[in-house]
Amino acid sequence: MKVLDFRSDTLTQPSAAMRAFMAQAQVGDDVYGEDPSINLLEMKAAELTGFASALFISSGTQGNLIALLSHCRPGDEVILEEDSHIFVNEVGGMAALGGLQARTLRGLPENQGIFPVEAMISAIRADNVHYPETTLVCLENTHNKGGGAAATPQEMGEIIHAAQERGIKVHLYGARALSASVAQKPSIAQLLKGLDSVQICLSKGLGAPVGSVLLGDPEFIKRARKWRKMLGGGMRQAGILAAAGLYAFEHNIDRLEEDHQRAQILAEVIDEIPGLQVLRPKIMTNILCVDTRKSQKSGAQWVEILAQRGIRIGANGPFSIRFVTHLDIDDEDLAQAIKILREI
Ligand SMILES: Cc1ncc(COP(=O)(O)O)c(C=O)c1O
Repeated sequence: MKVLDFRSDTLTQPSAAMRAFMAQAQVGDDVYGEDPSINLLEMKAAELTGFASALFISSGTQGNLIALLSHCRPGDEVILEEDSHIFVNEVGGMAALGGLQARTLRGLPENQGIFPVEAMISAIRADNVHYPETTLVCLENTHNKGGGAAATPQEMGEIIHAAQERGIKVHLYGARALSASVAQKPSIAQLLKGLDSVQICLSKGLGAPVGSVLLGDPEFIKRARKWRKMLGGGMRQAGILAAAGLYAFEHNIDRLEEDHQRAQILAEVIDEIPGLQVLRPKIMTNILCVDTRKSQKSGAQWVEILAQRGIRIGANGPFSIRFVTHLDIDDEDLAQAIKILREI
């Protein structure tokens, strides 16, 4: 029996067609700026998103760290959401390597990536000899721990405007920003309008085996390129990897809609299981966070119960489990998962 793996959209295998495209990629030394496939990926990423420049990087975590280092100086304060990936899941890199202090805010219940604009304004440090300087606000769209919540251009725009009016830059960790755009139909360029920088992952819903792109203006990307080098992320004939991203841009963006539809169907089935409750943000995408408290079983117990039946999921809290739909879950897999869940 096939194991149905809903742990993450990072688990996808590169398809045969993607691998074939990677195998024939033209390559060169990227530290010399001579890898044609990387140059093309950076150009296409910038074109797609409406930014002036782009940089190919190894991972989302590396991209977020590079953005923080490029925008801020040690001792600065960064405003971000309390369950955000940078704060919770990136090994404290902002503190360890950037000397940055996090000021966390609680996201709105219906859309956890976004905190109230008034809360952000009051968290901005006044000009006082005792205080650190607030230099950056970070947003996450879609929001991973917020049940895949997608924020709208209006919601982000309000924060971007209020921050920039006060001389503060805004970075988006848009690991799944293309899902946010597909879910609500503004183009990705419309959704990202006004941001100072964005990191987009190629290795999540887009199905590439590795890589992210960092976007910003040419000055920012020039600084980011240096930080990437310092962090050991300067790559050589990595066009083979960039080719996977080029393939993904061409073939795997529109299909994200299918992942959202499957997640929606799955959410309805999970909600029918006594004691389980799907967290339902205003705009849902491909991540389902499920509260298990009323079932009197922990997240870890549910992971075990489902593993015994051939469904792999993750526990993302003591009483929370997470299902993620992706490229390697098709309709047949979904039907099989529904059958198993209905038998519980
Ligand atoms: C919202 C968000 N940002 C960043 C990342 C980090 O990406 P990576 O695993 O490529 O470092 C993830 C990974 O799941 C994520 O969900």
